[in-house]
Formats: sequence, C-alpha cells, structure tokens
Amino acid sequence: MPVASKTILVTGASRGLGLEFVRQILQLPAAPEVLIAACRNPSSANDLQTLAKANPSLKVIKLDVEKDEDIISAAQETKNIVGDRGLNLLINNAGILVRTEGSELRTQSRENMQRHFDVNCSAVRSNRVISLLVASTDVSCSVSGAREVGIE
Ligand SMILES: NC(=O)c1ccc[n+]([C@@H]2O[C@H](COP(=O)([O-])OP(=O)(O)OC[C@H]3O[C@@H](n4cnc5c(N)ncnc54)[C@H](OP(=O)(O)O)[C@@H]3O)[C@@H](O)[C@H]2O)c1
Repeated sequence: MPVASKTILVTGASRGLGLEFVRQILQLPAAPEVLIAACRNPSSANDLQTLAKANPSLKVIKLDVEKDEDIISAAQETKNIVGDRGLNLLINNAGILVRTEGSELRTQSRENMQRHFDVNCSAVRSNRVISLLVASTDVSCSVSGAREVGIE
C-alpha cells in the first residue's frame, strides 16, 4: 500500500480493521510523520497504547463519532498535533453493523437503522476533521462526502 501522506488519522482504531490499518501504516518504508489513532476509550485500547509506546509518531486520541462534543474536541486535538501541515489522509473506518432483530433488513427497527446511519454516514458528513483535510495543501485521497467540501 503506497502512502505518501505526512499526517494520517484513522478512526475506530481500537480493534479490527482500524487497528490493522495503524499497524501496517507504522511498518511502511515511508511512514507518515504523524499517525493519529482515534478510539472511543483510549485508556482501555491496550493494543493501541502498546503501539504508541513503541512508536513516538503515533498519537492516540478519544473520538466517539456519536458524540458531537467528542468530534469537536478530536478535531481540535488533531489540529494541535498536525499544525500547519493539515491532515493529508482521513481513514474514516469507525462503523457498526448491529443486527438486533434478526439478519434481514426488513426486520430491523427504525431506531436501529437510524443508529447505523448516524454512526456510519452522518458522522463523517458533519465531521469537523474534514475541515482539516481542506486546510492541508497535500490531500492525497478522497473520503466519503469530500466532494461536497471541494475535495476530489
Ligand atoms: N470486516 C469486514 O469484513 C467489513 C466489510 C465491509 C465493511 N466493513 C466496515 O469496516 C469498518 C471496520 O470493520 P471491522 O470489521 O474492523 O469492525 P469492528 O471489528 O467491529 O471494529 C469497529 C471499530 O469501530 C469502532 N466504533 C464503533 N462505534 C464507534 C463510534 N460510535 N465511534 C467511534 N468508533 C466506533 C469500534 O470501537 P470500539 O472498540 O470502541 O467498539 C471499533 O474500533 C466498519 O465500518 C465496517 O462496517 C467491514
């Protein structure tokens, strides 16, 4: 995976694909200057904390995409970390797939479907982190919804 970005943010980095993104990005020959790993509970994200101790370029921050106050504080924290470089790459991996009423779409409750839309779709649309992508002079990828804020 060739990645030339200097500053990268991965959401949902506590486990699964997000954690693996972090692991593999750290091993790249041209690793980023800063890799920010966002997760809901940094204090219990043991794998991430272990990686952060061994890799000074890895910063762990708190972000629950269902909480507006988290989005605001994570965006500010990201801004403080990346500074004038802006954010080159957002890997918006945080997501859910929770089937509470059987496995078929038609059996899901409105509440459950709305929660999926909130976590998996609305969060990135309203995510202030996208403004950091716009601030960067070296945006090297597209993200969902980026077209609407002028990123191709
Ligand atoms: N695995 C697949 O085959 C597959 C296929 C297609 C798409 N995807 C998508 O790829 C993404 C990652 O998949 P995965 O298999 O790695 O899933 P996973 O193992 O369930 O991990 C999901 C990650 O998202 C985080 N997360 C959940 N809700 C969040 C919230 N409200 N705010 C912030 N973080 C939140 C989780 O954090 P906690 O540890 O705090 O719960 C966890 O780090 C998901 O969006 C999934 O829908 C996966």
